[in-house]
Amino acid sequence: MNKNKIDFFLLGRVLALAKPYRSVFIIAGVLAVILAPLATLRPYLVKVMVDDYIFNFDLQGLVFIAMLFVGALVLEVILRYVFIYTSSLLGQSVIRDLRVRVFKHITSLRLTYFDRTAIGTSTTRTINDIETINTVFSQGVITIIADVLTLFAVLGIMLYTSWKLTLVCLTVLPFLMVASYIFKEKVKASYQIVRTQISKMNAFLQERITGMRIVQIFNAEEREMEKFKAINREYTQANLNSILYYAVFFPVVDIISAASLGLMVWWGASHALTGEVTLGQLVAFPIYLNMLFRPIRMLADKFNTLQMGLVAAERVFDLLDKDDKIENKGDKKVEKLVGKIDFDQVTFAYTAKNDVLKNLSFEIQPGETLAIVGSTGSGKTTIINILNRFYEIRQGSIRIDDVDIREYELQSLRSRIAIVLQDVFLFSGSVLENITLRDERITRESVIEAAKLIGAHEFIERLPGGYDYEVMERGATLSMGQRQLISFVRALVFDPDILILDEATSSIDTETEAVIQYAIEKLISKRTSIIIAHRLSTIRHADNIMVLDKGEIEEFGHHEQLLQIEDGHYKELYEMQFAQTTTSN
Ligand SMILES: Nc1ncnc2c1ncn2[C@@H]1O[C@H](COP(=O)(O)OP(=O)(O)OP(=O)(O)O)[C@@H](O)[C@H]1O
Ligand SMILES: [Mg+2]
Repeated sequence: MNKNKIDFFLLGRVLALAKPYRSVFIIAGVLAVILAPLATLRPYLVKVMVDDYIFNFDLQGLVFIAMLFVGALVLEVILRYVFIYTSSLLGQSVIRDLRVRVFKHITSLRLTYFDRTAIGTSTTRTINDIETINTVFSQGVITIIADVLTLFAVLGIMLYTSWKLTLVCLTVLPFLMVASYIFKEKVKASYQIVRTQISKMNAFLQERITGMRIVQIFNAEEREMEKFKAINREYTQANLNSILYYAVFFPVVDIISAASLGLMVWWGASHALTGEVTLGQLVAFPIYLNMLFRPIRMLADKFNTLQMGLVAAERVFDLLDKDDKIENKGDKKVEKLVGKIDFDQVTFAYTAKNDVLKNLSFEIQPGETLAIVGSTGSGKTTIINILNRFYEIRQGSIRIDDVDIREYELQSLRSRIAIVLQDVFLFSGSVLENITLRDERITRESVIEAAKLIGAHEFIERLPGGYDYEVMERGATLSMGQRQLISFVRALVFDPDILILDEATSSIDTETEAVIQYAIEKLISKRTSIIIAHRLSTIRHADNIMVLDKGEIEEFGHHEQLLQIEDGHYKELYEMQFAQTTTSN
């Protein structure tokens, strides 16, 4: 967007958001048009009062005109109230709708978007930027139109009252225009700096608070504090800079308007003696001048606000225009899957350059369990990411029940596959809500039943409040093992046909280990399962084991088979990692 011009196409798009509130918009617009001339009425009445009644000693007329004055005042107050209320209502309604639209859009974006975009950016779009768009309505277009109309109305009535006096007043106009222009440019630049500083501070705070543990573990408080102080200083400075321009501009306008007033009094008084200017005009003109300079003072600032609103709108529209979604063209809906999975020469990469999975082919029969082992970064988690279409594969095909996964309707496919992720994520809310994810079809009874089945019921019951125990953000108040058990119940209540488990690598105590082992067995029984396993017991009981190395299958077979391979990777892994624990298993 050209920084010095108002982008009318963009403005049109923002205004189009108000379509559902057309009537409110029209009311506000009409009021703006009515209010402008109405405001000029009172000073005019003052002039009439002085010239026609006070000097003619017409007391009755004076009372009448005073009542008219009060009436005009009351009417103006009421209309102004309605105007401010409707224009704010308009802005608030528009941004309320917009927030919903943006949130809905964000939830539908594919995961690659979230890999590339900082959380802070998406949050800023939905909250700060949209808030700024509000100003386009509440302080922007309509009030600018109202101000400009007022300006013309005042000028008009001034010229009508006395064109000579008006011209005298307007000699200061060039100074005013130059001052306004400089101010507008300066404030715009400083405002942009302020915004950058705000987002810097937001990003810093968000990351440090999330990673507070690391900060404290490594005694980094002092260093982080120094960094924060520096950012804080810059932020304050940016704010002070922009305030400085206001602090200079407003008095400058005051001086200019005082000069204008001075000129008017000087010229007006000397010509009043000759009768060229009436006393009423001399009384009314200072009020007109005041009315003329106030909007001028505000206008430069309002243009800035409008500009900023448009910049924010541009960013929000950018996000809304982003068609970064997983293609959902399939129309095959399924109630139940048999659970046969095959990968046929699948190649996948997150970024254009390096392939993470290369030519992967394997099959899982219904009801069987496949364990995937391999060193870190070998692509294990990636396999599950592409199975339920978090990411699109580049080549080859993945079939479930002999149907390409792209032919299934996305939601229907995902509803039949449950995934327990490596790092469990819990939301703030009760344990129950975390399990059902507020799906009302899942009853409390079925949750308890599932929890009992996998042996999580006892520990949940022991929590204060049981199933209603309030989990803190990210499950901070629960242990790793507990969080995992909750995520197991979460997977089980949906009664999936395919279960995928990305075992957490962290080790847990033997007692919890036994509970989790039992839970896993219950989870995978009677359904096709893929387990990215780190525990020998899980691996040994699997029907097949796949050894993955740099995105390729190195070995495939069951435990005994793989141990037979001389110098085999699995054998080596087994000896290195698991040999000691076999005795205890
Ligand atoms: N979202 C992503 N964007 C880009 N690259 C990614 C992304 N996720 C993973 N990778 C890369 O893909 C490769 C495989 O990652 P993956 O998470 O599948 O490993 P893994 O086998 O599950 O490892 P671990 O045992 O540590 O969980 C890694 O080299 C990693 O850097
Ligand atoms: Mg992983």
